[in-house]
Amino acid sequence: MTRIPLIAGNWKMHKTAREGVEAVTALKPLVAAVEGVDIVVCPPFTALADVGRALAGSNIELGAQDMHWEPQGAYTGEISGPMLWDLGCTYVIVGHSERRRYFRETDDDVGRKAVAAFAHELLPIICVGETLGERDAGRTEEVIARQLRWGTAGLDPAVGDRLVVAYEPVWAIGTGRAATGAEANRVSGLIRGWLAERFGEGAQQTRMLYGGSVTPENIGEFITQPEIDGALVGGASLDPPAFAAIVGAAAGGG
Ligand code: PGA
Repeated sequence: MTRIPLIAGNWKMHKTAREGVEAVTALKPLVAAVEGVDIVVCPPFTALADVGRALAGSNIELGAQDMHWEPQGAYTGEISGPMLWDLGCTYVIVGHSERRRYFRETDDDVGRKAVAAFAHELLPIICVGETLGERDAGRTEEVIARQLRWGTAGLDPAVGDRLVVAYEPVWAIGTGRAATGAEANRVSGLIRGWLAERFGEGAQQTRMLYGGSVTPENIGEFITQPEIDGALVGGASLDPPAFAAIVGAAAGGG
């Protein structure tokens, strides 16, 4: 069974609800004819309801950028899995490096969120990746292995085939300095190997995304790699024609 490519747009803290609806209204016709690619947009929480309505009947799915691990409770400012599910989300990003860095999310938090995502019928996109300092110190493999071990610690071994892992080197995010396809492929292969120890055969179906300065110009370099099944796109996902071009490249295999 071949893995279905996945292109996910992470809008981060961009676009009001109205701007989000405008963006997906522009995006829908640009990707309407695309088949064989799972397309996801992840707007801010405040735009999920309106963007979800605007996506109804389209081939674009709705995702969130984060979630809390508890279904409800006294957690001021937080959003739970059932709340996201209720709005029609099918995916949720967990452990993005900006969450880890600015909001002190730990590897353990990420693992709890991943478990909660599956518990509420959301597919987690678990983000891992090393900083420049860690890379320069030769610690890339060690850091990613640790993030992955904790990030998947509580998961049922049967979910490996539905899991999505995004390899996002922190130094490549928002910097215009993408990793090379060969290097991203190498790390993705390592990740799949580690996942196989935990999830067995299911790891062959885990989708591995690359993230970090993906553009219409460089997506081909990543999507053609054997271990890479798609991309988590930040900046370029804010522009519907650019995001559509990335989706189109994934549909064409690069
Ligand atoms: P970028 O962001 O494409 O703007 O580098 C990627 C991400 O943070 O997911």
